[in-house]
Amino acid sequence: MKKQRNKKQTAANNATRVDGLEKDTQTNAPIPEDRIRQRAYEVSQARGGAPGCELDDWLQAERELKEEMARAHPADGPADLKTRLLGTQGLRVSVLGLGCMGMSDFYGPGDEGEAIATIHRAIELGLTLLDTADMYGMGRNEELVGKAIKGRRDQVLIATKFGVVRDSTGKIVAIEGSPAYVRAACEASLKRLGTDTIDLYYQHRVDRRRPIEETVEAMAGLVREGKVRFLGLSEAGPDTLRRAHAVHPISALQTEYSLWTRDPEATVLPAARALGIGFIAYSPLGRGFLTGRIRQPDDLAPDDWRRQTPRFQEGNFQRNLRLVAEIERLAGEKGCTAAQLALAWVLAQGEDVVPIPGTKRRSYLEENVGAIEVTLTPEDLARIDRVLPPGAAAGCRYNEDQMQALNR
Ligand SMILES: NC(=O)c1ccc[n+]([C@@H]2O[C@H](COP(=O)([O-])OP(=O)(O)OC[C@H]3O[C@@H](n4cnc5c(N)ncnc54)[C@H](OP(=O)(O)O)[C@@H]3O)[C@@H](O)[C@H]2O)c1
Repeated sequence: MKKQRNKKQTAANNATRVDGLEKDTQTNAPIPEDRIRQRAYEVSQARGGAPGCELDDWLQAERELKEEMARAHPADGPADLKTRLLGTQGLRVSVLGLGCMGMSDFYGPGDEGEAIATIHRAIELGLTLLDTADMYGMGRNEELVGKAIKGRRDQVLIATKFGVVRDSTGKIVAIEGSPAYVRAACEASLKRLGTDTIDLYYQHRVDRRRPIEETVEAMAGLVREGKVRFLGLSEAGPDTLRRAHAVHPISALQTEYSLWTRDPEATVLPAARALGIGFIAYSPLGRGFLTGRIRQPDDLAPDDWRRQTPRFQEGNFQRNLRLVAEIERLAGEKGCTAAQLALAWVLAQGEDVVPIPGTKRRSYLEENVGAIEVTLTPEDLARIDRVLPPGAAAGCRYNEDQMQALNR
């Protein structure tokens, strides 16, 4: 399996950096003429030739420079990742984003050093979209992201969210979308992130006590003031999307979407498409379950939030392992890992869909980037539909209370 994973990682490692120029060693990108001229002059000098250089010197110089490029720091340069457009307002992001939530909350203990190294590695690999929210770690995740992007702000797009209010113990106590709250939440996020502008600002959950128009009008005010560039909603239903979009263009809808959560296909994804709104697929690895690396509940830390969710509970857990076995079988045939197959499937759902797999470690990040190289044929997709149809997972994706807050 490790060998297969490495195979797909080469995509992430192909790029090299030479004298500040990014080159892809496999595309034979041309080397600037003045660099060849300088090297040809040196070659000519070395062989004691006359001033000025001959064709052979030029060819030797070009060859030497190409070989040097191929050798130089193969894993150091940014890969030229593909991009996708979210919405019709000009928000272009890397085809895969990085979910930062687990670095500070919900999924067991974190390691700040490795988390920051993971964000830096993501930037090196060309992932431009970092996903966080004010409620992740009750502000700590935004602070972590802010620390990681210091000096690199122009290389990333920051997406964050407001609206889920927690008390000092972490318990969720309200969903809040009042204009005053929107403004205060934005100011607090800007401060924690150490930036003047949030690239994509989402309402995390729709506040069912007030009209969506009121909240989106307040969000639009932040765009007018330059504090926010693009607007998004998370887990909003089709009607809310339409009403929100009529107040101010919504560039992205963020909703759970993966091989075990295909619910958006029924109404939400078609509604977003009809409005020209991009789709951010969160938890595209089924919160880690679809990777096959969680084999029993005790693989999760005692305080891991997933233990309380229906799909990870005794009975459902074992039934859902059967889905993982199918994914592993397909992945084996494609020469990739289960995680890569799960991400490749999300990527194959349309040019308007961008998955944001979450991880707190570089090794998983690199593996996940390799998914971009996995191509699923129409036959592969049809087979996946047969073995993992919508509704195949055992158990709901959230507990009952949390389900109440979705698709409003
Ligand atoms: N809008 C919302 O309501 C909402 C809700 C949930 C999440 N999100 C966002 O979406 C992002 C992604 O979702 P998620 O983190 O919930 O779930 P996910 O991306 O489906 O899975 C994350 C889990 O998978 C593990 N993982 C990642 N790559 C792996 C690999 N190659 N092999 C094995 N395990 C791997 C991670 O482990 P490690 O942590 O050990 O690296 C983590 O436990 C979050 O970070 C967050 O930004 C949004």
